[in-house]
Amino acid sequence: MAGDPSGHRVARTLAGTVSRFAQPQDPDFQRLNRSVGFDRRLWPYDIAQSRAHAGMLAATGIISEQDRDALLAGLGEVERELADGRFEFRDDDEDIHMAIERRLTEVAGPVGGRLHTARSRNDQVATDVAMYCRERATAAAGAVEALMKTLLEAAERHLDWAMPGYTHLQRAQPVYLSHHLLAYFWMLDRDRGRFVFAAGQADRLPLGAGALAGVNFPTDRGGLAGELGFSRVSENSIDAVSNRDFALDYLAAAATCATHLSRLGAELVLWSSEEFGFCRLPDAWTSGSSLMPQKKNPDAAELLRAKAPRVVAHLSALHGVLHALALTYNKDLQEDKEHLFDAVDTLELCLAAARGMIAGARFDRERMAAAASDEMVAATDLADGLVRQGVAFREAHGVVAGLVRQALDQGRALSDFSDQELAEHHQALSGGFHELLAQGAWLESKVSEGGTALIRVRDQLAAAHEALATA
Ligand code: ARG
Repeated sequence: MAGDPSGHRVARTLAGTVSRFAQPQDPDFQRLNRSVGFDRRLWPYDIAQSRAHAGMLAATGIISEQDRDALLAGLGEVERELADGRFEFRDDDEDIHMAIERRLTEVAGPVGGRLHTARSRNDQVATDVAMYCRERATAAAGAVEALMKTLLEAAERHLDWAMPGYTHLQRAQPVYLSHHLLAYFWMLDRDRGRFVFAAGQADRLPLGAGALAGVNFPTDRGGLAGELGFSRVSENSIDAVSNRDFALDYLAAAATCATHLSRLGAELVLWSSEEFGFCRLPDAWTSGSSLMPQKKNPDAAELLRAKAPRVVAHLSALHGVLHALALTYNKDLQEDKEHLFDAVDTLELCLAAARGMIAGARFDRERMAAAASDEMVAATDLADGLVRQGVAFREAHGVVAGLVRQALDQGRALSDFSDQELAEHHQALSGGFHELLAQGAWLESKVSEGGTALIRVRDQLAAAHEALATA
């Protein structure tokens, strides 16, 4: 490694081989180009695929068994160094693949230079990222399922706890808390399906595609696939090195899931406020104020709200990277990783936070019931009562709206109205009016499939258990 007149260091080449470059790399170019700072997290997949690759090279007679054994021993040592945190990255390690090969050659000697036979970094990196996506998508599906279970348990604990349901954040119609929590269960059930799909998209082995056209050796890709847990090999070498759909699919699933969690976070922020007072969040997922001793801040719930756009941005950014990108490998593709990694880290933390908060939230039955017993939320039921007596719904809607207006103007409750006053609004209003206003009637009347009546919520709980059992 000689110096040069410009004062830049001459880039080292792997195994001290001859370089085609007369000029050294500009240090800023090296910083721009280097990915080892973030792609080092791929090392377990890189080591695993290199092991499988070395084995395949020997099995197909491309390298000797002796060389294979030397490579495997060297990879074992490199793996131990990486696992123990003893591995020393160098400034001129461009990426994790080159760092591992550089170290392998130091540890095992020149035989290290045989590992890259019939392999390019293009199929190598696609393989690492596919393995990573498959693993994290499967893990996400599991974490989503754990949250589904937590929601289901919470729904069962609060089966008949009334609360107001909202539209436009205005009290609309009462529902049971179980019903509301199960709404998230079904969102997450769809998320889980999306992660399972994403994992399936990462199930074709790119390795063996070489730089783009295939390799000059009769490799055994099927054997490699089996060893690395892929169910099949990619059909087309050009597609194999260009493809990052599995990363997009993970990110798309993560973006939708994080968006769902942001809605849960938003509701937990509202519900845990003094104004709502519907629940208290567990201490483990809240923090105090540095100034105001009485405060208990729902930071985790707030962050559930705010992290989602970040995950969505990663999806959007990778779409941007891939947009109009000519085939095959381009260095642009290196920009898949930070988006993917940050989305994985963010989503996994958000799922843990959502689970912790739902498991530990203490709901206030009285407070929710009081909010749900506001008679105004029975307005639709009163209109439907008129419909049952033959009034057209649109007319009934107007009649009850007039009644509500009078009640608000006069500062009265709907149940205060006398039969005579009611009759002034509509002949049919007096019949059954006060029964309709009786608490609980509005909930139990929602008997349509998927509605909040207990009989329907019980159906839903059974369906939810089945969804979890048939995952
Ligand atoms: N660090 C590179 C990446 O993440 C590895 C592949 C490099 N391939 C190449 N032809 N320069 O994409």
